This record gives sequence, structure tokens and C-alpha cells, in this order.
Amino acid sequence: MANFISYHPWNRPGTEFTEESDYKNRREILKTIGLTTLGLIASPAFIQACKNPDHKQAFTSIPDSQYCENCFDFKGMKELYPAKRNEKYKIDRPLTKEYDATHYNNFYEFIDRSDDNIYNAYKFVDPFENRDWKIEVSGLAEKTGTFFLEELMKTFPLEERIYRFRCVERWSMAVPWTGFPLATLIKFLQPKSSATHIRFVSYANPKEMPGVNNLTWYPWPYFEGLRMDEAMNEMAFMATGIYGKPLPKQNGAPIRLVVPWKFGYKNAKSIVRIEFVNKEPETFWHKLQPKEYPFLSNIDPKVPHPRWSQEIEHMIPDGEPRPTLKYNGYGEYVGGMY
Ligand code: MTE
Repeated sequence: MANFISYHPWNRPGTEFTEESDYKNRREILKTIGLTTLGLIASPAFIQACKNPDHKQAFTSIPDSQYCENCFDFKGMKELYPAKRNEKYKIDRPLTKEYDATHYNNFYEFIDRSDDNIYNAYKFVDPFENRDWKIEVSGLAEKTGTFFLEELMKTFPLEERIYRFRCVERWSMAVPWTGFPLATLIKFLQPKSSATHIRFVSYANPKEMPGVNNLTWYPWPYFEGLRMDEAMNEMAFMATGIYGKPLPKQNGAPIRLVVPWKFGYKNAKSIVRIEFVNKEPETFWHKLQPKEYPFLSNIDPKVPHPRWSQEIEHMIPDGEPRPTLKYNGYGEYVGGMY
């Protein structure tokens, strides 16, 4: 992931944010995964190419994505959106435009060789079949087995929360998620006292996901984890929607994790399995680069990534710089845990 650091619209070769080593690394990685437009990446044309051609649509809303053919759906789901906003969670910046938050994504399962912009997941999600979604729950809990998302969504009231969101690569956004607190789900599943951590596993199917098919050296499926106290914290959220609608596939439909005080990669998408365990679980990016992606990964401007500073972040889509906030500004809720 991090090797793509200079691949953002505002983060192009020649700017203060591009270090030679990052740039070389990215080239090497792109070569490895067989993306063919390296020349373009180094040229001024890339700067244009990197901007979404439909960028003007950033000022409009995306069409209702609720009833695509193979999207998660059930009778009455439409009526659950938009859910009532929980006004407790306020932010200090304007909301990111819906188009931008849903057309600039990090979802490695949907990286396709045909596209030189790895953030274009939205172009490749159609084959992703998520109509009837189930979550397998296993490990140290009273209630384990298969749970239909439809039933969970009928059991737990949905609410909307506006959260800041910060990727380790320094881009950030502010979006309204719809969903329910992770703590509500955990209480329902009744973990045993021996459970110290919770593990999340994402869906992975090479037939529907070009990244899973082609990026074979990644340890699919994507997996992440939290400590139990973190998972029970009121900020930890299971999102089923965004901008008052069901999640589009590229944002992790039909259900994903949102832990806004941690870097984006902790927020596993399209979750199919939850496990209660009694030791710190391995995580996807930690397994790949242990020195760069520690288990906790709390946002902190004073703790640089080994290859870049984390003091400044850049709002999508234009890269407006802002100082990074410790715990992404959620210290009053989560600071006591560390
Ligand atoms: N979950 C899965 N399954 N696969 C991924 O590649 N990327 C992570 C996270 N969850 C990722 C994932 C990263 S690095 C980020 S920054 C966020 O998703 C991006 O979420 P967004 O695309 O909704 O903004």
C-alpha cells in the first residue's frame, strides 16, 4: 500500500511530498503487478490522468446505488435509509463530496491491471456478488455460527455518524456513515471473558475481484483485528451505508468496519467472518511489512511512518493540507485506552 504514496492527484513527482525512494518503490511495485503505463506516471500527462475524468461530478450526488442487480438488498432495506444522524459526533471540516468518497478508494481486491490508477476500484466492482450476505462468527463467544446481515440490520437500529477518516498514505476525508456501534454487535454475540481480541476477515473471490486474482503475493483474504476494549469503544462502528444510502461496493459493501482514530487500513471492508480470540491476531499489512504497519496503528502526528512524516494530511479530492490530529481528534473518546 504505502509504496503507492506518491500516486495521488496532489502528490505528484516534483512536489515536496515525493521522495525519490518512494517514487522508485512505486515504479518497482507497479512493474511487478504488471501495470503498463509507467511513462505516463512520470510525465505531466499523468497529473491530468490521475484526476478522475468525471471530476466535475464531484459536485453532484451519485445516483442511488440501492437496487443494482447483484447488490445486497432485502425487503424494507430501502426504508432504513437515511437513518437519523447521531449529533453527538461533530467534525471540524466540511463533508467530503459523495462522489469523491466513493470514487477514490483503497480496496486492493479491486485493483485491475488495465487501470493505472489503483484508486479506481469503482470501475471493477460490478461482478462482486453480495446479494445475500452472511457473517460467520467463531471463537470465544456464546453465540457463534452464521448470521444473516439482514437479520442483524433488523435487530440493531441504524444511525448516521459523521467521522473524520485518515489513510496512512496521508489522504483524508470526512463522511457520514450509516450503521450500528460494533459494541452493540459484540454484546449480542456475548464474548467469553477469555476473548482478548477480535479478528475481522474480508470477502475474497478471484472470480469477482481482479486484485485477488492477480496480486497473488498478497495473503488474501484481507484480515484485521482490534483489542476487545477498542472494539467495545463507542467510536468503533459497523457501517452498512454512507451518505444516507447503502454502501457502494467500492466502499466495502455490504458491511465494513470504521475505527476513525486508527489509520484507514484497520477498517476492513466487506466483512464475512468475525472471530473472538485470546491473543493479538496477525493483520494483513503487518504480515507484509511488519515495521510499517503495527497492530495498533493509532493516528499520531508525532509518530512518522518509516518512510514519511504523518504531521500533515491532505483532504481528497484536492489535497488541501491540514495538520494531523492525534487519534484523528478523537482523544476524548479513545485516549484513555492507551
Ligand atoms: N479492506 C479490504 N478488504 N481491502 C482493502 O484493500 N483497504 C483499507 C481499508 N479497508 C482495504 C480495506 C485502506 S488502506 C483504507 S485507507 C480504507 O479501506 C479505505 O476506505 P475507503 O475506500 O472507503 O475510503
